[in-house]
Amino acid sequence: MDFILKNANVAHLDQPIRQSDIAIKGDRIVAVEPNINTESGHIIDCNKKLVSGSLIDAHVHLDYVLVAGLERDNESGTLHEGIEIWSDFRNKRSVKTIKERARRAIEWEIAQGTGFIRTHADVCDDDQLSMKALIELRDELRDRIDIQIVAFPQSGLHTYSGGVDHMKVALDMGADVVGGIPHNEVTREAGVSSVLFMFDEAEKRGLMIDAHCDEVDDSHSRFVEVMADQTLKRGMSNLVTASHCVALHSYNNSYAYRIMGWIKRSGLNVTANPFDNTILQAREDTYPKRRGMTRVKELLSIGVNVGMGHDSIMDPWYPLGRGDMLEAASLTLHICQMSGNKEINDCFDMITWRNAHNLGIKDYGITPGAQADLVIFDAPTKADVLRLNPARTHVFKRGKIIAKTKPSESYVMDSAVNFIKD
Ligand code: FE2
Repeated sequence: MDFILKNANVAHLDQPIRQSDIAIKGDRIVAVEPNINTESGHIIDCNKKLVSGSLIDAHVHLDYVLVAGLERDNESGTLHEGIEIWSDFRNKRSVKTIKERARRAIEWEIAQGTGFIRTHADVCDDDQLSMKALIELRDELRDRIDIQIVAFPQSGLHTYSGGVDHMKVALDMGADVVGGIPHNEVTREAGVSSVLFMFDEAEKRGLMIDAHCDEVDDSHSRFVEVMADQTLKRGMSNLVTASHCVALHSYNNSYAYRIMGWIKRSGLNVTANPFDNTILQAREDTYPKRRGMTRVKELLSIGVNVGMGHDSIMDPWYPLGRGDMLEAASLTLHICQMSGNKEINDCFDMITWRNAHNLGIKDYGITPGAQADLVIFDAPTKADVLRLNPARTHVFKRGKIIAKTKPSESYVMDSAVNFIKD
């Protein structure tokens, strides 16, 4: 053995937490059972700390990260001002600067336990700067993180003359996933056409689909029904994700529950993005003000697989963030009122195995045969991990330790002490 993790509180998929040892050899987990004894191997005593498969960020824009304030600040905080800033800044980037910023954000994510990222890449420029930069990073960082790249037409597919060509070039370059943004097209018909384009290209090329879908407060934005319909008709269950689905928050309940049934029946996955959705949505509301998130717990309760993304890390739409998926899960827990014990566990599951399902990741989890991509948290349960946001003491990728963090320590004095000088 290369590593033996003793006395771990093992979190594997939806199974109850159980105490066990974990043996790692090469890039694989080879045993998960009590009292593993072997002569060889480096031993880590987990002391009843939670060990789960890697955290997963199912939706982020690595080509936008760390650009907040570089062009100018988004003073209104609105989506529209963010788009204006982005159009002014987009062509001032280079492959080199995109890579530098993305690499930094990826390292933040790795340090906090993320082992898989699905990033969208803006394809709406002739030079394909985002695709070039992210393809290079995907290869350069392969031993530390798995990255899927979504070809994403940020400006829309049919809103300008080169949209379709830009998407086809990006897909030819080696995108892993076909993206879209149907609610951003000018008409309903153009939005439907953009959905059909995604499915045609994905079928032809054998790729998955992940679309920004209905990321507006308008209850008339109903492209998720087109995505569910196409997923069903083309037999693409579990290969298609609708990200955001914010308008579902605002649909009347009769329509919402009818369409949630079709989402379930089609096997369409959903990804929620709590940071951007809570910051950007319902900006035109006075009061009461909508929360802006899709119906996470209602979708989970009928069996839809809902995952989660960080979406933005310091970009024109969201100037905060440090790439910690635990913070995204905690925000979801609060904003979606998921404080029941099972619901708290659901929030942890959304950033681990549920995201793995949405991204089509095989061999995931703490089980013999799985790839040894795992995290040791400095807390014993999923609920404690979400309550405490503890250090990720050890982060493993393919059987190797790639990040370590020491837990912080605080001291409270027995009585007040005046410190003159240390
Ligand atoms: Fe996004």
